[in-house]
Amino acid sequence: MAKYVVTGGAGFIGSATVRELLRIPGAEVVAIDNLLSGKRANLAEVMERISLVVADIRDYENMMKHFRGAEVVFHLAAIPSVPRSITDPVPSHDVNANGCFTVLRAAKDAGVRRVVYAASSSAYGDTETLPKVESMRPLPKSPYAVQKLLGEYYMQVFQSCFGLETVSLRYFNVYGPRQDPGSPYSGVISVFMKCLLANEAPTIYGDGQQTRDFTYVEDVAALNVEAAHAQGVSGGLFNAGNGNRYTLNEVWQTLQRISNVTLPAVYAGTRAGDVRDSQADTTLVREAFSYQPRVDLEEGLRRTLEWYRASL
Ligand code: UD1
Repeated sequence: MAKYVVTGGAGFIGSATVRELLRIPGAEVVAIDNLLSGKRANLAEVMERISLVVADIRDYENMMKHFRGAEVVFHLAAIPSVPRSITDPVPSHDVNANGCFTVLRAAKDAGVRRVVYAASSSAYGDTETLPKVESMRPLPKSPYAVQKLLGEYYMQVFQSCFGLETVSLRYFNVYGPRQDPGSPYSGVISVFMKCLLANEAPTIYGDGQQTRDFTYVEDVAALNVEAAHAQGVSGGLFNAGNGNRYTLNEVWQTLQRISNVTLPAVYAGTRAGDVRDSQADTTLVREAFSYQPRVDLEEGLRRTLEWYRASL
């Protein structure tokens, strides 16, 4: 019976990964979360089938204790958000950079076989061409992007120097049910959902023509689990995106159409550190894993909206 540990397991992507792991017969699943942004409610339906450990990833001894006997650690705990890393850089650095190092050190010392890491598409910054390919030189534009990139480098070095198996997945703007819309730093689709349900106009930063490769959370969770077991990928870095890009204006238009409302957005200045365009080249990830994103943007928005309607 394999043991899997998910840091950030009560978070948005972490809890989806926990649910995906529970599809493996006999899997023992441990979610570690300090409940700063994670929520017990995200695990409500599965709480009896898992262990939830309330702990901080910066606590090496505690991580060691809970990693012992684990086959794979999914390191998803983070303080996400580009703007938050600019307005409040210290906690962001401490959790995303120091926390990642501590998780890797504890995983190595506890004898974990593999770590799967939530890297970020923000590491690319503004590239000259699209789509963004893993071989491009990273050009981080924000502290958050630097922190996530540092984690990738540590992953590679823990593989080459210490023999820990590692797989880094650069997530591209993940969205879906359970994404928390409640903070000024929340992901844009969760904010759009909240606005729609409150019948309030959203604020779009910039001209709304910036693009993102929005990726449905269940596709990412399935890829995480693939990455835990695939052969020949250790030390690797892969884009976890859909391969498409949509402008924010298109997303808001689609949401108005599918929910049958007309609510023009309000426009404000561009956010510091904001990347202009983002689109994944998915060649490598499709070759390495049996990765086939199943949920396109419109279907993902419909499912997400349904969830927010039932939950907010
Ligand atoms: C970035 C990363 C993403 C990472 C995420 C973590 C890139 C390309 N992507 O996302 O991989 O997972 O950080 O937080 O760097 N916006 C509005 N109105 C709002 C909120 C946001 O217009 O109310 C705009 C932002 O200015 C941005 C876009 O929507 O242009 C997406 O913002 P957000 O959802 O915060 O994610 P990114 O910063 O793109």
